[in-house]
Amino acid sequence: MDMKVEIRWVKETDSTQDELRRRISGCDNMSVIAAEFQTAGRGQRGNSWHALKGENLTFSMLLRFGEGGFPPLNARGQFVVTKAATLGVVHYLNKKNIGCSIKWPNDIYVRDKKICGMLIESVLDGENLAYSIVGIGVNVNQRDFPAQIVNPVSMTLLTGEEYNLEDEMEILASSLADSFTTVLSGKPDAADEEYERLLYRKGSFYEYTRCPEGETFEGRIIGTTEDGLLLVEDKKGELNKFAFKEISYII
Ligand code: BTN
Repeated sequence: MDMKVEIRWVKETDSTQDELRRRISGCDNMSVIAAEFQTAGRGQRGNSWHALKGENLTFSMLLRFGEGGFPPLNARGQFVVTKAATLGVVHYLNKKNIGCSIKWPNDIYVRDKKICGMLIESVLDGENLAYSIVGIGVNVNQRDFPAQIVNPVSMTLLTGEEYNLEDEMEILASSLADSFTTVLSGKPDAADEEYERLLYRKGSFYEYTRCPEGETFEGRIIGTTEDGLLLVEDKKGELNKFAFKEISYII
């Protein structure tokens, strides 16, 4: 598959998440709003997202469910959106000869460095998702990052190449659209095996912090549950389940 999706570029906006929400009535399923610069880019855990003007990809893709979109998706199954989105980015980076893994739930890592972050915001209609806005930031041409950004890396730092952002946006949007179409159009299990296989740090012991307690422990990631919790085995052989804000990786 090589799907074409509509991409609208804006020079500057607060956040493409908010820009898309403001324009939502004019946006079809899987259309994209991309910004050359965000003045208030948002990250996970209430953090801001840093990207130098015109150097990286910062965009949001709309996923509609129900009429005019994908088949209805119960909110309890929404982790498939995360899986499809992360795999769409991984497939794109692989096309660029960049091998990567998925740091649960939705960061993309190259070895121990972050190349891409994601913020998925969904709105419900009863028990089902009405729509999701998948916000993605990929470090593309940026070479220098502020000291407070933890473990950043960019495509250019890895390959030495300089990328045309409009071209890359098209390839990445198409890869995401392929992934969403496969997974959300009736094959919810299609992403399971690959997502689990690509999990960063799966299968070996590393240090983690339990949040908010702050207690450090050694654990081994085993996989994820259907509803998106992280399964970590500790040194006593006990299996622990973590929600997003309950564990932090020591890298
Ligand atoms: C994270 O890793 O903390 C998530 C980062 C998500 C950043 C993207 S950039 C495009 C979209 N607009 C935003 O304001 N945030 C997301």
